[in-house]
Amino acid sequence: MSENKATINLAGKSVEMPILDGTIGPSVVDIGKLLSQTGVFTFDPGFLSTASCESKITYIDGDEGILLHRGYPIEQLAENGDFLETCYLLLHGELPTAAEKADFDYRITRHTMIHEQMAIFYRGFRRDAHPMAVVCGVVGALSAFYHDSTDINDPYQRMVASMRLIAKMPTIAAMAYKYNVGQPFVYPKNDLDYASNFLNMCFAVPCEEYKVNPILARALDRIFILHADHEQNASTSTVRLAGSTGANPFACIAAGVAALWGPAHGGANEICLRMLEEIGTVDRIPEFIARAKDKNDPFRLMGFGHRVYKNYDPRAKIMQKTCHEVLSELGIKDDPLLDVAMELERIALSDEYFIERKLYPNVDFYSGITLKAMGFPLTMFTVLFAVARTVGWISQWQEMIEDPNQKIGRPRQLYTGPGSRDFIPISKR
Ligand code: SDX
Repeated sequence: MSENKATINLAGKSVEMPILDGTIGPSVVDIGKLLSQTGVFTFDPGFLSTASCESKITYIDGDEGILLHRGYPIEQLAENGDFLETCYLLLHGELPTAAEKADFDYRITRHTMIHEQMAIFYRGFRRDAHPMAVVCGVVGALSAFYHDSTDINDPYQRMVASMRLIAKMPTIAAMAYKYNVGQPFVYPKNDLDYASNFLNMCFAVPCEEYKVNPILARALDRIFILHADHEQNASTSTVRLAGSTGANPFACIAAGVAALWGPAHGGANEICLRMLEEIGTVDRIPEFIARAKDKNDPFRLMGFGHRVYKNYDPRAKIMQKTCHEVLSELGIKDDPLLDVAMELERIALSDEYFIERKLYPNVDFYSGITLKAMGFPLTMFTVLFAVARTVGWISQWQEMIEDPNQKIGRPRQLYTGPGSRDFIPISKR
C-alpha cells in the first residue's frame, strides 16, 4: 500500500483512502468518505473484515491465540488477580493500587442490593421462565428505578450506572435462579467477596448456614475474569449500537443480555452441555462429528470454532484447567461428560475438516461441565456469562460515549428488492 493510503479505482475514478495503524494488530482503511467520493458502499455482512470502532480496551490475536485486556494477557490476569481487579482495569485502563482496589471493592460491595420493589418483578414471570428471559427483563427495568444514573452526558452518572450494573448483576442473576427453583431470595452479604457472595445468594437457604467453598469461589471468580470482555463481539456491538442512539445504560446492557443469549454466542455454553449429554458416551462421538461435517445437517459442534480465534482460545485452556480443579475438589473422579469432551476435542483436533477450518474449542467448551459440577442448572450458564460480561459491555459503552467522534450507528445496505412500481387496487390483483 502507498504510504498510509489505499487507492480504490472505481468507475474510471481513482480515490485515495487513509490507512490508520493501531498499536498492534491489523491496520484499517478509513472508508468514511467512500460514498461521497464514489457513490458506492462497502459490503461486509457479519463484519468479517470490518472494524466498527477504535478501542483501547481489549485486543485479540486470533492466529496466535492471544487475548489482552488493556495490554495485560488474560493468563496473567486470571492467575494473579481477582475479577474486581479486572473490572477496575477494564473500566479505568490501569491496574488499581492497593488503596484504589480497596475503595473499588468497598463501593461495589455496597451497591449489590437492588431496590426492594424490584423483587415484585420476578413474581410476574412463570416459575419455569428461562432465567435469561428474567434477567433481560429485570436489567431493562433498572432504568425504571435508578433515574439518578441515566443521564449519559454526565460522567459522574455514567460511572454510578457502571458501578451499579457490575454490583447488581450477581444479585439479579441469583434472584432469577432462586425464583426458578422456588426458593426464597437471599440478600447479598457485605463480608463476602464477589464470587463468594454470588455462590451464597444462589445456594444458601434460610434453614442452615451455607459455607462457601473457597476453591469453588476462586474458580468462579476466574471464570468471571475469562468472560469479562472480548473486543467487538456480537453482544458488545449491540450495546455500542444501542448506546450510540443515546439510550440509557441499563437499556443498553439489557440489549447486550438479549444478544448474548443466542446459541452461536453466549448461549453456546448451555447448548454445548446439552450436546455432550446427547452424545452421552465416547462411542457415539463419530456420529456427531459426521453430522457436524454434513452440509445438509444444521448441527454444529457447540463450543468449537470462533470468528476471530483460528488457534486455541486462550480462555479455553484456562477453563479446562479450572474444570479439572473443580471436579477434583468435588471428588468427581470420572465425569462421563468430561470423558466425552476430552475425547471429542482429541478427535476433532485431528480431523481434517476441523484442522482445515481452524476450528478449536472456545471458552464455552469446558465452562458448562464446570458450572454443572458447581451445582448450576444448564439454564443459568449464559446468565453467569452475562454477569461477567457486564463489565466489558459497560466499559465499551463508556469508551463509545467518551469518543469525541461518536455518532449514531446507522449501517446502509445492498438493495436487491423490486424497483419502484405503482400500487394495484385489490380488485385488480
Ligand atoms: C462466543 O465473538 C466473540 O468474541 C464471542 C465470544 C465472546 O467472548 O464474546 O468469544 C463468545 O460466542 C464463543 C463462540 C460460541 N459459539 C459456539 O461455540 C457455537 C458453535 N460455533 C459456530 O457456530 C461458529 O464457529 C461461530 C459462530 C462461533 C463462528 O462462526 P463464523 O466465524 O461465522 O464461521 P462460519 O460459520 O463461516 O464457519 C466457517 C466454516 C463453515 O464451513 P464451510 O462453509 O467453510 O464449509 O466452519 C464451519 C462452518 O460450517 N464451522 C463449523 C463450526 N463452526 C464453524 N462446523 C462444525 N461445527 C462448528 N462449531
